[in-house]
Amino acid sequence: MFLKYSSTIGLMDFEEKNSGEDYQLETVLRPDCWTDYIGQERIKNNLKIMLEAAKKRKELPDHLLFYGPQGLGKTTLAHLISKELGASLRVTSGVNLEKSGDLVAVLANLEPGEILFIDEAHRLNRMIEEILYPAMETRKLYITVGKGPTARMMALDLPPFTLIAATTRLNLLSAPLRSRFGAIFGIEYYDVEEIKKIIFRSAKILGLRIGSEAVELIARASRFTPRTANRLLKRVRDYSQVHNLKEIDAKAVGETLNMLEIDQMGLEKWDRKLLKSIIERYNGGPVGLNTLAAVLGEDKAVIEEIYEPFLIKIGLLQKTSSGRIATKDAYEYFDNYLT
Ligand code: ADE
Repeated sequence: MFLKYSSTIGLMDFEEKNSGEDYQLETVLRPDCWTDYIGQERIKNNLKIMLEAAKKRKELPDHLLFYGPQGLGKTTLAHLISKELGASLRVTSGVNLEKSGDLVAVLANLEPGEILFIDEAHRLNRMIEEILYPAMETRKLYITVGKGPTARMMALDLPPFTLIAATTRLNLLSAPLRSRFGAIFGIEYYDVEEIKKIIFRSAKILGLRIGSEAVELIARASRFTPRTANRLLKRVRDYSQVHNLKEIDAKAVGETLNMLEIDQMGLEKWDRKLLKSIIERYNGGPVGLNTLAAVLGEDKAVIEEIYEPFLIKIGLLQKTSSGRIATKDAYEYFDNYLT
């Protein structure tokens, strides 16, 4: 039984996983062997060893946890691992596993050797975690049968399986859950050279002719994130198709970015709105997340999971114990780019 992939947090996230075209694009462009998987060398090497060793022992690899900002390829890695092992992947999300019956249904339907991928693992509640612990450790599923004084606990044996969990918020995962993974990997932002390789690869798969200057511009605006790079490539492809261009050039990229209100560093309208609010309303901060969310009319999770990681990474925003602060670079950004 494959559960429908869905998410309730993050507008961009929601859009990308559910809107047909972009979701399809992600599937088409997803690398399915290590050679095609660009970057994250340390993680790749560790995983290759783990998988090879498990194959040699004719066992399944340990349970794995991936964490890091959205769009960096946690799901891609899970797919890649399942391909490497020749195992099927069952995908669900912490959002979908609300009641104990939800997880029991998933676990009880696992086939031997399958991989269970739980995205947004920080959304799992305590009750669900309690069911997961024995399932991960001893492959036992404890279920309560009956109600009231006659209720009894039954233990079911589960087939061998590997759990791969992913989260954008490692700090929200309970310590007991974290401790049950055999390896935990932090996926990091890619560098521009790696993103360029990803764009060249995607362009080739999509049969696009694209100049290196155009690739460079897309890479620089892609927030060091493959998903964003591929999405921008697609928007540029639309533009070039409409304008009957034989090859995607720097001008086409520039015009597309302008139309999307994305600047050459990859900042979008919402990023600028967030920084401007801190600068203009709160004198540069510090300002608390609750206040910021209210001022922007935005969900706190969206701010924390989508906007902030990139703004922090490029040094325009700082998170302190007393709130968010716009850095000196943020002031300079507005001096240089918008005036
Ligand atoms: N698409 C998403 N992540 C990728 C990666 N690391 N390499 C190639 N294509 C990707």
